[in-house]
Amino acid sequence: MDALNDLLLPPAKSTLAQNTDSLFWFVHLSGLALTIGLIGVIIYFVVKYRRKSDDEVTPLITHNNKLEVTWSVIPLIIVLIIFGWGYQVFMEQRVAPDDAYEVNVTGQKWIWQFTYENGARTNGELHVPAGRPVKLIMNSSDVIHSFYVPDYRIKQDVLPGRYTEVWFNAPEPGESNVFCTEYCGTSHSDMMAKVIVHEEEEFQSWLAENSGGGSKPEDLAPAEWGEQLAQEWACTTCHSTDGSDMTGPTWQGLFEHEVPLSDGSTVTADENYIRESILEPGAKVVDGFPNVMNTYQGQLSDEQINAIIEYIKTLN
Ligand code: CUA
Repeated sequence: MDALNDLLLPPAKSTLAQNTDSLFWFVHLSGLALTIGLIGVIIYFVVKYRRKSDDEVTPLITHNNKLEVTWSVIPLIIVLIIFGWGYQVFMEQRVAPDDAYEVNVTGQKWIWQFTYENGARTNGELHVPAGRPVKLIMNSSDVIHSFYVPDYRIKQDVLPGRYTEVWFNAPEPGESNVFCTEYCGTSHSDMMAKVIVHEEEEFQSWLAENSGGGSKPEDLAPAEWGEQLAQEWACTTCHSTDGSDMTGPTWQGLFEHEVPLSDGSTVTADENYIRESILEPGAKVVDGFPNVMNTYQGQLSDEQINAIIEYIKTLN
């Protein structure tokens, strides 16, 4: 079974994964056994009972109690096992242990944001302690997304205006991929993140280091920090820095240049324009581009916005 797992399934990296996989294999292998049995019997009967001469008469058989009870009771037992087992695995996945470590998750076109109990925030990276149950309390700031970690065998829709939950316990340190599995617009397929599992001690020191959140690392120049932020906040999912158009206009050669707007007017892309476009993206939409960007009001600090502007300046 382990060999099959390695071949066909992603690595099982959570405590829930084993049980889910066993059920998965039971459903599939019992289905496979029945299919092979049925097809085998069909082929045997086709050969054995084929019409052998032109005047052969088919015997009249009304029913066979023993046979009918057998082919009803065996499948009944199999589906009852699947029901009971499935219910147990389902409940295990749905109900988080009381002592779970809680992280808030926000889905937004097209990034995953994580907020920790001490105020630390990350984008695109979920940091968790190894060997402890972690409960995610999730919501969306725009459309329906879905939080999916194949390695943990967990998936849960993330909705605007309502909280949903999912939990897992990853015993070993390491990394796993997060995908969005609900089509949420142009860059849906880029809406990915990583779960980074630390040893408890390492996790605590990571948490302490990141408690401040939103201030510039000392060893970086503002423009360098801006570049890092543009990656982290997934700006670059929609805005290229090489002159090519993506969902949004490119940042190359943007600063201090004239930009044509959708209402026919033009604007100079100075600091105020860029700041406004980050905080109120619908205010001045560039001609030829859809009005789909989210506001970053209340998410990016002034210092962070300044750094991103500094970075855009370097792209001229
Ligand atoms: Cu978010 Cu697809």
